[in-house]
Amino acid sequence: MIILGISAYHPDSSACIIRDGKLIAAVEEERFKRIKHWAGFPKEAIRYCLTEANISLSEVDYVAVGRNTKVNLLRKGMFALKNNPGFGMIKDRLKNWEKISDIGETLSKEFEVGKKLLKNKIINVEHHNAHMASTFLVSPFENAAIFSVDGFGDFVSTRFGIGLGNKMKVLGNVFYPHSLGIFYTAITQYLGFTKYGDEYKVMGLAPFGEPEFLKDFRKIVKSTNGGFSLSLDYFKHHREKEGTSMMWLNTAPKMNNVYSEKLIEKFGSSRKYGEQLTARYQNLAASLQALTEEVIFKLLNDLYKRTKSNKLCIAGGVGYNSVANGKIYDNTPFEELYIPPASGDAGTAIGAAYYVYNVILGNKRNFVMDDAYWGPEFRDEEIEKEIKSKGLNVEESNTDKLCKIIAREIADGKIIGWFQGRMEWGPRALGNRSIIVDPRRKDMKDILNARIKKRESFRPFAPSILYEKSSEYFEKSHPTPFMMKVFKIKQDKQKVIPAVTHVDGTGRLQTVKKGENPLYRALIKEFEKLTGVPVVLNTSFNENEPIVCSPKEAIECFNRTGMDVLVMGNWMVRRKSK
Ligand SMILES: [Fe+2]
Repeated sequence: MIILGISAYHPDSSACIIRDGKLIAAVEEERFKRIKHWAGFPKEAIRYCLTEANISLSEVDYVAVGRNTKVNLLRKGMFALKNNPGFGMIKDRLKNWEKISDIGETLSKEFEVGKKLLKNKIINVEHHNAHMASTFLVSPFENAAIFSVDGFGDFVSTRFGIGLGNKMKVLGNVFYPHSLGIFYTAITQYLGFTKYGDEYKVMGLAPFGEPEFLKDFRKIVKSTNGGFSLSLDYFKHHREKEGTSMMWLNTAPKMNNVYSEKLIEKFGSSRKYGEQLTARYQNLAASLQALTEEVIFKLLNDLYKRTKSNKLCIAGGVGYNSVANGKIYDNTPFEELYIPPASGDAGTAIGAAYYVYNVILGNKRNFVMDDAYWGPEFRDEEIEKEIKSKGLNVEESNTDKLCKIIAREIADGKIIGWFQGRMEWGPRALGNRSIIVDPRRKDMKDILNARIKKRESFRPFAPSILYEKSSEYFEKSHPTPFMMKVFKIKQDKQKVIPAVTHVDGTGRLQTVKKGENPLYRALIKEFEKLTGVPVVLNTSFNENEPIVCSPKEAIECFNRTGMDVLVMGNWMVRRKSK
């Protein structure tokens, strides 16, 4: 039983393949298109998944799509009647729906498969059911509460549920246009971060401020029985003409401002990109984060009362709020937490595939996603060929020696490009497409920013730590294999690893357990042997672009930036001294 999962015409379009319930491959289209959050038809991602599974499209039993435009029709109709959204907005939505409905046609054209062969194979799964499935059905839990929260998809922004075995039950919803994700986007845009997906920057900015505007924000996002609602006069995503288009066909997603003039009347002028981040802006960021946490914890406490499960699965774009995630243990009764590496919209490809396999077809669950390495990998010969074609200085090593040599280089303050095995699924580099440096050096953040990342100076860098040492360094020791939680770093350790300690003494850690990514673990262990510190700084291998996928892109990034050493497989390339 082979199922191809697809997320298309939505930001972070992606594909995956599962065979008899086991994941074979998963990848975002942006990694091939080289444009962040690419939102079109995931042709290259599908092609890669088929190659990895060694099959053609005609051999696929089902194609599962993480959108279903035919749901919530009554609600959509009522909304249209009440709000009179006008022809423009209706046309925009209809066009998007048409593209989703035409996926069979597009597949048959792009992959030269007869339309008949695909007939009855395409199954549309409602967006939030796909989100829920993307976390619960691949989690280690037999039963769990499920929380799916994002901007919106298929007219829903938040869904509460419970999972048991291969079944999931929806317990409640918050419907469009009310959305916690949209609120976060609105304030992010107001603060001058206008690119799609910039919300995480504001999360990094929040600890610099005080939640001075929390009371005001409580009037904009109001708790209701079973959910929350927005004061819609502060927003315009739902309005005709001013409303934001959600129609992205083969392009990077771009959103118009979703906040209205009323937000400016209330809080003063919005920040222009590049303008100084004054205390007022920092306090707005802090208030946004505080309000978001408050709403999430309230919803989760309600969900716990209804499910009585101490296990929780999270998905949806708001699931990337690692600061809120890290505080769940202290603010709710939940004791165990699973958040998949692609908790956002890319994950709906996996969710749709597993929804079809487990829920619709009734198969038992037989897979846990406990690592993120589902993307392309390259043979040593391919890497060698690419390096040599560029005329670079190259040395070959073996695995044992390699980790020793590179640990020494890291301890000597070098910047390492670390390219190994299969590329990560989801936005976090987890030791296969990473840039690695010494976390003990206070100046490393500035060095990385000046020589490679060229990003806002307030944004933190993340630590990777041997799991068994995490309780020595962090106040909590829950496994965090996908960098989805932020924990407080113990007071006495903050000065030991200053390059990965944020202004509020926290770190968004990746724990690496025995058995997880053995090569990366071996590297951290060698670094520990040399320095006594079981932590490295890990940032994604890229420079304002999607994470590098192929050796060619890794070399280009190495050549473009100020990295000192590039390691790909067992090959090492050192920068030629000028
Ligand atoms: Fe979503």
